[in-house]
Amino acid sequence: MSETTDLYAHLPPPVLREADPARGCRRLEGRKVLITAAARGIGFATAVRLSAEGAQVWITDRDAAALEAAAVVASAGGWRLHTQVMDSASAEDTAQALERMTQDSGGFDVLVNNAGGSLHTPYRFLDEDETHWQRVMDLNVMGAVRASRAVLPGMVARGFGRIINFGSKAGRFGSLIAGPNYAAAKGAMAALTRQLAQEFGPHGVTVNCICPGVVMTDRTQALWNERRSAQERERVLQEVPLRRHAEVEDIAASVAFFASEDASFITGVTLDVNGGQAMA
Ligand SMILES: NC(=O)c1ccc[n+]([C@@H]2O[C@H](COP(=O)([O-])OP(=O)(O)OC[C@H]3O[C@@H](n4cnc5c(N)ncnc54)[C@H](O)[C@@H]3O)[C@@H](O)[C@H]2O)c1
Repeated sequence: MSETTDLYAHLPPPVLREADPARGCRRLEGRKVLITAAARGIGFATAVRLSAEGAQVWITDRDAAALEAAAVVASAGGWRLHTQVMDSASAEDTAQALERMTQDSGGFDVLVNNAGGSLHTPYRFLDEDETHWQRVMDLNVMGAVRASRAVLPGMVARGFGRIINFGSKAGRFGSLIAGPNYAAAKGAMAALTRQLAQEFGPHGVTVNCICPGVVMTDRTQALWNERRSAQERERVLQEVPLRRHAEVEDIAASVAFFASEDASFITGVTLDVNGGQAMA
C-alpha cells in the first residue's frame, strides 16, 4: 500500500445524507463532468450533487476500492457514477487515464480539479523538506494543470467549458493545521485560475476557484485533533460567524453553482466558502 493510500485506509466509505441534495434543481442536464480524487469527502459529495442536477459524472481516485465503494453508495441513491483509477500526482498515470475517459465520454463540459491536500506533511516550514514540497505541489497544482491541459482543447473546440479549481482558506489567510507548502499550493491555484480565465474566456470557458474553510471530514477531524488542542479548536469555531464548520454538501453546492448557467458571467474569481471565518 502506498504512503498516500495509507492515510485513508482506516476511513469508512462516504455516506449519502440527503435523498435529493439538489432538491429538484436540475441545472446540469446533459453536461459531462469530470471530478478528480472524488471517492470520498468534498469530491464525492460534489459527484452526487452534480448527478442530482442532471449531469453525467466521471470520478477518479487513486484508491480503487474506495472508488468502487463510492459508486455503490451513489447507486443506492439512484446515481450512476463512472469511475476511473487515476493518481493525480503522476503525470504518466493522469495522461493515460484522461485519454481513456475523454474517449469514453466524448469530452468533458465541466472539470472539477478537486484533487489536493497537505498529505499530512509537517506544519512548520523548517520541518518541511524537498520531498514534502514536491508531493504537495504535484498533487494540488500539477494535478490540476495536467487535467486542465487534457480537457481544454475539447472545451475550446466546442466553445463551452467550466473549470472549477480548489483553493483553500489556507491559500488566502494561512492555516492552523497545514504547512507553508499547502498554503503556497492553494495560493497558486487562485493565480492559475485567474490566468486561465483570461486566456480561455474568449473561447467560452469559465475558470473559477472555491476556497473552503474548515470542512470536518473524517480525515481533517483527525488532523485537527492531532495538531490543535480542544481549546484551540473551540476558539476557531467561535471565530466563524455562522458558528459551525462546513459540511461537504456546502462546498458541493458552490461547485454546482459555478458549473451551471447561473454562473455563466462569472470567471476568474475565488469564492470563500467558510462561514465568514476570515473576515475578522
Ligand atoms: N477538507 C477540508 O477541510 C478542506 C479545506 C479547504 C480545501 N480543501 C480542498 O478540497 C479538496 C478536497 O478535499 P477533501 O478533504 O475532501 O479530500 P480528502 O483528503 O478527503 O481526499 C479525497 C480523495 O482524494 C484521494 N487522493 C489522495 N491522493 C490522491 C492522488 N494522488 N491521486 C488521486 N486521488 C488521491 C483519496 O483517496 C480520497 O478518496 C482538496 O483540494 C483540498 O485541498 C479541503
